[in-house]
Amino acid sequence: MNSNPEKNHTICNVVVLISGGGTNLQAIIDGQKNGDLPIQINAVISNRPNVKGLNRAAQAGIKTETLDHKNFSDRKTFDEALIAIIDQHSPDLIVLAGFMRILTPEFVAHYLGKMINIHPSLLPKYPGLHTHQRAIDAGDKEHGVTVHFVTEELDGGPPILQAKVPIVDGDDPDSLAQRVLVQEHVIYPLAIKWFAQEKLHLKNGKTYLDNELLASNGHLIDTTVR
Ligand code: GRF
Repeated sequence: MNSNPEKNHTICNVVVLISGGGTNLQAIIDGQKNGDLPIQINAVISNRPNVKGLNRAAQAGIKTETLDHKNFSDRKTFDEALIAIIDQHSPDLIVLAGFMRILTPEFVAHYLGKMINIHPSLLPKYPGLHTHQRAIDAGDKEHGVTVHFVTEELDGGPPILQAKVPIVDGDDPDSLAQRVLVQEHVIYPLAIKWFAQEKLHLKNGKTYLDNELLASNGHLIDTTVR
């Protein structure tokens, strides 16, 4: 992290990876702009061209890059090219915000302890895709979202924060996704803030906040309790 003498505190350099609409990216940009997040977003990189998240970044004056995975013959060469671009921006933290790619072990190892992801389920429930539909189909009464450190296991890294929401009668995947998304925009900036403040660490495969080992599901924000 770079010490900023003018502001007399440390700024965390962040690179955000996206594949789509970028509402989580927007929440992070807003947090940075309103002074809540002591971060600088050095670049936003998308593996898909012309997505809305790139416009959001450009509008905020953030450098954007597109690295289209379709131009690569395999996952390894794509990930190597992506590392080369990311590292030009000297990030302290890599934020995966709707980045829809499976990562190679080499990529994960390169950023271990400094790369986080947001996944729309209460992990370890429902890793992978279609999480809202799966929670409804299972008859669950609760659903939610998890921010976690990225490890080699898909959606399996140690949780940092979870937010729980109710599933209500008549919910469909879209209505449930909207309820979850509201919480995504709360917990992702909060996790980034903790990391930027150097309160959050991955040690021996576990998450520590203020040097305290977190519960296995991470810190919980429960909106089902009133
Ligand atoms: C979010 O639901 C996130 O949890 C998941 O992909 C979606 C991306 O949304 N990984 P956005 O691009 O941030 O709007």
